[in-house]
Amino acid sequence: MSEHNYQPKSKFGKWFNDRLPLLTLANHLTDYPTPKNLNYWWTFGGILTFCLITQIITGLVLAMHYIAHADMAFNSVEHIMRDVNYGWLIRYIHANGASMFFLAVYIHIFRSLFYGSYKSPREIIWILGIIIYLLMMAAAFMGYVLPWGQMSFWGATVITNLFSAIPLVGESITTWLWGGYSVDNPTLTRFFTLHYLIPFLILGLVVLHIWALHIPGNNNPIGIDIKKPSKETVSFHPYIVVKDLFALLLFTILFAAFVFYSPNILGHADNYIEANPLVTPAHIVPEWYLLPFYAILRSVPDKLMGVIAMLSAIFILAALPWLDTSKVRSAVFRPLYKQFYWILVADVLILGYVGAMPAEGLYLLVARIGTAYYFAHFLIILPVLGKIEKTSPLPLSITEPIMGGSLNAVPTRIRENSQKL
Ligand code: HEM
Repeated sequence: MSEHNYQPKSKFGKWFNDRLPLLTLANHLTDYPTPKNLNYWWTFGGILTFCLITQIITGLVLAMHYIAHADMAFNSVEHIMRDVNYGWLIRYIHANGASMFFLAVYIHIFRSLFYGSYKSPREIIWILGIIIYLLMMAAAFMGYVLPWGQMSFWGATVITNLFSAIPLVGESITTWLWGGYSVDNPTLTRFFTLHYLIPFLILGLVVLHIWALHIPGNNNPIGIDIKKPSKETVSFHPYIVVKDLFALLLFTILFAAFVFYSPNILGHADNYIEANPLVTPAHIVPEWYLLPFYAILRSVPDKLMGVIAMLSAIFILAALPWLDTSKVRSAVFRPLYKQFYWILVADVLILGYVGAMPAEGLYLLVARIGTAYYFAHFLIILPVLGKIEKTSPLPLSITEPIMGGSLNAVPTRIRENSQKL
């Protein structure tokens, strides 16, 4: 059914919809034509929506019992863990939920990189995604400060101090951020305020992200444009809904395994020691999902240049739709890009590993090579590759590789067989 001539069946529905077309919108969402050939990597958008809602709900309950004061924050978290009914569960879901959220977002981003989902006409979806990702990092960083453990305090000190590298005004900006002359109570209360606010900003951006997605429709593993609705699409409900729910079920099993069997494995033991400005931990490390950027930051000897490199590593992603000059979207048909894609995946993993290690000796050398390669991938390899790569022939439709019929894409034997049928 087309959304334009959609009419609710009940009298009340008609009356309501004429005044506020929410039912038309719901109908648009359920009927949304989705490519038939989406694989399971396309279920992570739904999983991310689940993660965001879980973080908001558990966060709201935690905020009912948490006290954002430097003298009481640490103990209030212990109170949540011990005295509040199911407080331990809510806290562990929230803390591990942040990690699960980042796991899902990294898969979602690398899916987009593999299948060229960031390319025209989906640049705005991609850029909104980058803004969401930046806000996720800000929210996670500030959330980690709230328990007021040793890593909270020293992590906040290291990261806020980075602003002091800005020439002339850096020191003033850092003092302004702290609300004093060191990380202290005013810093904690403003981080709590922002940590509470940001998820709602993310929610608004997700609405825009999905709205922007519904204009061109989904990309697909083959990366060619399709007509919609057509024989190449299925309606979002029930086909994609059921598939997304199945993927979500598997994802929640992994999530539950962390929450119930290893709730602290992804955290740092030092954060169970209350913040002490007089004792600096031996190694100050951020959470795992920020480690590649931490490695980039420390790989540059100059503080200001390190900060610029770290920020550029994220902002460069926003320019990706224009840096990648290839007309072919999906890596399936780009034999060379496919190899560089996997090298990039390895590079980011290696950067994450060295980010967790002390910034010295071999680790530092590897971090420097990894950082240089990261930038070379986007600034040199991708623009050049698009010009010189010989891509494989594209099928004419997404059903042809399975059903036969394309003169280009289907091997002769299969083609002959399909002609006999
Ligand atoms: C809260 C975080 C996010 C949520 C809830 C979210 C949600 C979604 C959903 C529901 C879809 C459609 C289904 C799918 O393709 O999986 C989607 C598509 C997409 N997302 Fe996200 N997303 C988030 C973050 C991001 C980030 C950080 C990026 C990139 C930096 C990104 C880039 C994309 C792109 C390029 C598409 C289009 C894929 C296609 O056309 O098939 N998203 N997102």
